Amino acid sequence: MQIIIYDDSQEVAIAAATWVQSLIKEKENPVLGLATGSTPIRLYQELVTMHKAGNCSFTNVTSFNLDEYHSINESDPQSYRSFMKANLFDHVDINQDNTFLPTCNQDQNPREQGLSYEKKIKQAGGIDLQILGIGANGHIGFNEPTSSLTSRTRIKTLTQQTLTDNSRLFSENELQPAMAMTMGIATIMDARYVLLMATGKNKAQAVKDMITGAVSANCPASILQMHENAVILIDKEAASMLNDQSYYQWADKQNRKLNDEFGFYHNF
Ligand code: F6R
Repeated sequence: MQIIIYDDSQEVAIAAATWVQSLIKEKENPVLGLATGSTPIRLYQELVTMHKAGNCSFTNVTSFNLDEYHSINESDPQSYRSFMKANLFDHVDINQDNTFLPTCNQDQNPREQGLSYEKKIKQAGGIDLQILGIGANGHIGFNEPTSSLTSRTRIKTLTQQTLTDNSRLFSENELQPAMAMTMGIATIMDARYVLLMATGKNKAQAVKDMITGAVSANCPASILQMHENAVILIDKEAASMLNDQSYYQWADKQNRKLNDEFGFYHNF
């Protein structure tokens, strides 16, 4: 795991955007894994700014989102499709036919939908770079605590904590779905690079458990300890419960020196 601590959420967003930009520049047909939620909003704003400045074209990008609410219409303002359109897709030159979310409406079979999402990811050549946030309970995607560490795209029931955390995004008269389709933990682990962003004090415990706790289904993000190329971008608040902050900062300095001498290394 590479752990990089930034002063604030804006720096985290700029660093993540630079990763996405490198992937898009380096790969002919890049495949991006995307997340929703509050954390990546600034990343998407940075990408839109880069695009408008002529520094980032999404024409060859295929994208796969981590999750989507069950039984929600794509056109519903609460759907993750609507979120992606509002925050990224409608503001860049991505071909929206190449943007995928694990949808499952009321008439569809979630098991078949999960399998077909996995197939689509494989057909696209696999995910090069997966963007992740982390839930206060350690979830990634909607893989809630106790999710199988070898799970694939499927339907999951959200925990009360996740429902409460996300209730801020629903008005009183909107129905908050209690189930969602999500990439599985093994699906996420198949990505060539994983970029997890976490900002704010309310993520500090989950970040600590992910980095220094035992690998356990009780903290699904802890599986990233087993990923060959997991990069954790966090701000000072999210890092505040880590004991070894000075080591991570020192290691980051050394890595930057290596990058200056030998080039920024990745193998998408
Ligand atoms: C979103 C997702 C979730 C969020 C997590 C953090 O697609 O899969 O795992 O990344 O719930 O959400 P925020 O960023 O709103 O704190």
